[in-house]
Amino acid sequence: MRVVETVADLRRLLAGAPRPVGFVPTMGYLHQGHMSLVARARSESATVVLSIFVNPTQFGPNEDLDRYPRDVPRDLRMSDEGGVDVVFAPGASEVYPRQHRTFVEVKGLQDRWEGASRPEHFRGVATVVTLLFRMLQPDRAYFGEKDYQQLQIVRRLTEDLRLDVEIVGCPTIREPDGLACSSRNVYLRPDERQRAPALHRALESAQKALHAGVRRGTMLRDVMTSVIEQTSGATLDYAAVVDPETLEPVESVDHEARALIAVHLGNLHLIDNAPLIPPHK
Ligand code: PAF
Repeated sequence: MRVVETVADLRRLLAGAPRPVGFVPTMGYLHQGHMSLVARARSESATVVLSIFVNPTQFGPNEDLDRYPRDVPRDLRMSDEGGVDVVFAPGASEVYPRQHRTFVEVKGLQDRWEGASRPEHFRGVATVVTLLFRMLQPDRAYFGEKDYQQLQIVRRLTEDLRLDVEIVGCPTIREPDGLACSSRNVYLRPDERQRAPALHRALESAQKALHAGVRRGTMLRDVMTSVIEQTSGATLDYAAVVDPETLEPVESVDHEARALIAVHLGNLHLIDNAPLIPPHK
């Protein structure tokens, strides 16, 4: 496995690399969710590239950029074991050599849900993903469904800007009790960790209600809300039943929809989502 820190070295290395090139973008502090993306990339690429870059432009002024968990030596070991060929780990000045003035925005998709409480977050994500795609020119890129809104935004920007990268969405990896894997889970205190699977339970309750015949989006949303209301220490940020592409709320789940949920637990903001597939009539 090779580790490179500059775009020039990356380009040199990838110029002769066998294709297809599969790309797994990350902010490091790898967990089983990331490793599932690596495994999928490994199974269908001749060259696998993983990036580690804690992207400053997707953090708001009061967010956790400085204390975002980092452990590069461990990330490198895990990448090597997972069969990654190249790790790209640039510094901030390599990605943003001077004050950045050009940003990618995905209107409509970026403003709701996570975007409502983190106004510049998706602009930062869309910008860095576009930059990384330009630097690497991968054939495919792998993103977890855990960050469902991010996945839809990346799909849309790739299409709109005709970036010629196939976006592969991969299922959320969960702890045995249902909590979705996330680098930020290390922040959970033991009592919070115990309550955190409430998000998954709320999503499962919505799925069960759908299978029991409840189709109305608002009713399914209320099913999720009541699970969180019964969880001490948790406050709901939003629960919603949305169109899987536009992320607009749906009135009735007559075709596949997506349930989204976000909860505050202590100082933490946890998100999760799940498909809502109506049973055949
Ligand atoms: O999902 C993440 O870890 C980040 O948002 C990404 C896609 C690597 C962009 O910084």
